[in-house]
This record gives sequence, structure tokens and C-alpha cells, in this order.
Amino acid sequence: MEALRERKQRGERITALTAYDYPTARLLDEAGVDVVLVGDSLGMVVLGYQDTTEVTLQEMVHHTRAAARGLQRALLVADLPIHTYDTPAEAVANARQLVAAGAQAVKLEGGASHAAQIEAVVNAGIPVMAHIGMLPQSVREEGGYKLKGRTPAEAEILLRDAAAVEAAGAFAVVLEIVAAETARQITAAIDIPTIGIGSGEQCDGQILVTHDLIGLFPWFAPKFVRREADVAAEMRKAFEAFISRTRGLGVRGAEAKPRAV
Ligand code: KIV
Repeated sequence: MEALRERKQRGERITALTAYDYPTARLLDEAGVDVVLVGDSLGMVVLGYQDTTEVTLQEMVHHTRAAARGLQRALLVADLPIHTYDTPAEAVANARQLVAAGAQAVKLEGGASHAAQIEAVVNAGIPVMAHIGMLPQSVREEGGYKLKGRTPAEAEILLRDAAAVEAAGAFAVVLEIVAAETARQITAAIDIPTIGIGSGEQCDGQILVTHDLIGLFPWFAPKFVRREADVAAEMRKAFEAFISRTRGLGVRGAEAKPRAV
């Protein structure tokens, strides 16, 4: 965790991507990513839920175990899903389950409103990554994935949230869909690294959902993502090639029929 703070001090960017399984985690680790997040985005891109609000702790534990097996070097952070950290005591008990599954740190959504939970988990010896700005676990109340920190009043709230999570002991904070200028101000105002997603280029690091980066979830991609591959198209090509090669073998048994003499 200290290494990430030192990276911020040196101005070196921090890289973070999601993984929910062994091969993806291992490929990310081998590629040299700094942080692997078992995000509750797994609800959408792996489990087929509408949003992250249906993800359970058991699902997070299961996928954290798988991702942990693939890592040798990168820091493994796992999300506490919705309603698993409503109180500080619940946050600590559930964070311990993610750590037992292989996570080295946990992430939870919320700023000043969740400082007590962050403090309790940190005091229990578990590092916490905070998450402010657009909070996907509140998407239903919010009515969508909307830009945050656009007005001076909104920016002020986010600056206070960032200061609160830092004071509570978080080692880093995700800024999700925050206006770029506000993200820049937050990054300058706190000593812990900011990891942006859809929040401009002035954060200390960047995180994306891997499926969005590699085009593995072709039915939806946030506008701010610059896709680096079209894995879904490659998969479709391979599936079609297999189907056509197998069907091209012809009717089974036809070639083996004994000839009439
Ligand atoms: O769940 C997730 O994947 C996340 C990141 C996108 C920040 O919270």
C-alpha cells in the first residue's frame, strides 16, 4: 500500500483492472498491472445481472478465490457488495471473509457517510480502498450512471468526501465518473492516490472493467472507455469456425457404412 503512495509522490501512474477468474488475473499479473480488482461489476459482466445491486458476498468470495490463485505480484483488492457494510461491525466481519478468500485489501463505496466503516476495517488490520463519485451500488436511486462534481457545490462535497476517506485511513480512492477538473483538484488535495474511471487524465492512476477494455461485453460499454481489443468478435469467429468445421464433417456414420457387394 505504501508503494502506491510513493508512486503518487513520484508522479508515476498506477494501473488497475478488474478480474473475476484465474486466467484473467494471471494474464493481468503477467502483464504487470499494479492492482487487480475483483469488482462487483462481476454482477453485470459475468453473472448477467442488470447492475451490481444483486451481487452477494458469497459470489464475491467465490470469484476472489479464483482470482487470487492467478496472482503472484499485483495487489488484490475485492469489493464489499451492497449491504455488507451497513455498519462498521458488518464491514469488518465481511471484509475478513474476503481476506480469507485471498484479498489483500477491500473496496467499499461512500465518502464521509462511510468513514466509520473505513476506520473500523482499517483498525482491524485490513487495508481499504475507498470509492467516491458515481456509486454503482446506488444506481437505482440515482436513476443512471451520471457525471458527478460538475458544479462547485458538488465539487465541494466530493473534496470533503476525499478528505474524509483519507482521514479514516483509506490507502487509495477510486473516483468514478467525476468531472475532470474536480478529479484534478481532489488529486492535488489529498496524499493518498486517486484512481480514476471516466474522471479524466489527472488522477494518479486509472482503472477500467477489463471486459470493457478488451471488448468482452459487446452489449454495453461506457462512453469513456477506449477499447483496446475486440475479444467478443474473436470468440464469435472461433465459435463459428468450430460449428462449421464440425457440421462440415457431414452425416455421422455415412462414410463408415459397409458397401454392398
Ligand atoms: O466494480 C468495479 O469493477 C468497480 C470499478 C470499475 C471501479 O468498482
